[in-house]
Parts: sequence; C-alpha cells; structure tokens
Amino acid sequence: MADPVVLLERPAEAVVLLRINRPEARNALNLEVRKLIARHMTEMGEDDAVRCIVLTGNDKSFAAGADIKEMAEAGTIEMLQRGIHRLWRAIAACPKPVIAAVNGYALGGGCELAMTCDIIVAGESAQFGQPEVKLGIIPGGGGTQRLTRAIGKFKAMKYILTGELFGAREAFETGLVSEVVPDAEVEKRAVELAKQIAELPPLAVQLAKEAVLAGMDAPLTSALALEAKSLQILFSSQDQKEGMKAFIEKRKPKFSGR
Ligand code: CAA
Repeated sequence: MADPVVLLERPAEAVVLLRINRPEARNALNLEVRKLIARHMTEMGEDDAVRCIVLTGNDKSFAAGADIKEMAEAGTIEMLQRGIHRLWRAIAACPKPVIAAVNGYALGGGCELAMTCDIIVAGESAQFGQPEVKLGIIPGGGGTQRLTRAIGKFKAMKYILTGELFGAREAFETGLVSEVVPDAEVEKRAVELAKQIAELPPLAVQLAKEAVLAGMDAPLTSALALEAKSLQILFSSQDQKEGMKAFIEKRKPKFSGR
C-alpha cells in the first residue's frame, strides 16, 4: 500500500503536526492532499485535546503548488466541481492556531497554503513565489489577495506578474514570514512555538485569532468593536480569573480551557 500523502504526528502534548508526504512530486497539492488537510483541520478544530497545529512538508519542499499534472487537461466545469478554494477555508476556519513550517519550495498553491496559516516559520533557504502566470493561469487559492495584504501592492504585483521566486530573507523583510531560522531547525522551532501557544488559555488564543482574521476584513471601527466584545467575553471565562489571580499571587496559572 502507498504511503499516506498526509502524515499525522504528535510532537508534543496538545500539538499535532501534519506532514505533506508526496516527496516524488515536490509535495504538489493534488486533490487527495487537499481533502485530507481540510478533513484533519476540521477534526482537530473540534478536538479539545489539540491546542495548536503545525503544517509542514519535507526538507526540499513545503509544497510546490497545485498538482499541474492533475489539472492540465481539466475544463472549467471540472475545476468548478473540484471546489478547491472551499478546502482551504477549513484552515482559515480552524479555531486553533496553525503554524506553517516551511523548508524548500512554497510555490503557487503551496505559498497560498502557507499564507492561510497563522504563523510562518521559514528555513533560510526556503523559496516562495506565485509562478502561476508562467503556466497561463493566475493564483487561485488566495495569492492575489493574501500576498498583497501581507507585503503590499507593489511587491506583490512584481511577484505575481513576473512569477519570480523570492527567498526567506526577503519574505521576512517584506512581512510574509514570522521568523527565519536555519533549515535544520524549522520544524523544531515551529513545534516550540506551538507548545508555547498550547500552554496558554485556549479561549483567549481562539478569540485573539478570530479578532485578527475577522478584523482584517472589516473597517477599523467594526474591527475594534469586535476586539472589545471579544475581550469582554473573556471576562466570563475561568481562565481569565485564574490568569489574573495567579499573577497577583505570584504563582504559575493552571488553565482549564473554560
Ligand atoms: N505539480 C505536479 N508535479 C510537480 C509539481 C507540481 N506543481 N512540482 C514538481 N512536480 C514534479 C515534477 O514534475 C517531477 O516529476 P517527475 O520526476 O515525474 O518528472 C518531480 O516533481 C520533481 O520535480 P523537478 O524535477 O522539477 O524538481 P526540481 O527540484 O528541479 O524543481 C520546482 C522543483 C522548482 C518546485 C519545480 O518542480 C517547479 O517549478 N514546479 C512547479 C511549480 C509551480 O509552477 N507551481 C505552481 C502550480 S499552479 C498553482 O499552484 C495554482 C493553483 O493553486 C490553482
């Protein structure tokens, strides 16, 4: 039997690592990979034992984009019926933080996949890009929008219109990635961050993620109102009482997730 194209690992308590596993195709995202990622994200979103998710590939490639061989002959209706944009929504909709650990190529749909996550840790030789234009198409998984929001119109236009790749340093300097670390430390660092987040009160983490994402789509006044309401809601949580009490009593808090 062939290896599963997405592997599930448990590097730490409350942390799940999802590994895209198609090394022979540079982790190109075929429908099977997309569906499995979406399914795991949905399931982990509902699992109280999971507090943070790491999504990664291998040392050569995070994901080299959509599987070109799978879509080369497709027609409009077939592309519509595949509905791949709906699958990526499962990541953005996941209430738990998702960290992309990127080594090697994050191209096309692979770059879009990383941008759908909440934090991106990149290895120093990682390569990002939206090369779709070279294939006669355009980014279709959020690239024209998320890249523009992350790095600004003029840099995004340069990369989207030329298809030129760019390295981890440039990605960091332009605001696309959260951290750059030596290649060999990408996964370790991503898991470290995930563990750090997993120890925090999950309701506060969830509402912080929600406020950032929903706020990015809203006018500032609405986004600030959402933030204020989210803060107020947290004052009904046991973890807020515990967190503040522990601070005052100079002890480590014990968060229950309630
Ligand atoms: N789809 C399908 N197969 C792919 C692939 C992809 N996106 N990327 C790599 N592969 C396959 C290659 O065809 C090759 O297979 P064979 O051994 O059977 O020939 C194998 O993976 C290894 O690839 P290379 O020999 O090319 O490896 P390399 O290390 O020399 O180069 C690379 C790596 C720079 C990533 C290069 O493979 C490449 O440019 N890939 C395509 C990148 C791309 O254009 N991505 C955008 C796709 S479109 C998209 O993503 C839009 C969307 O969501 C709708």
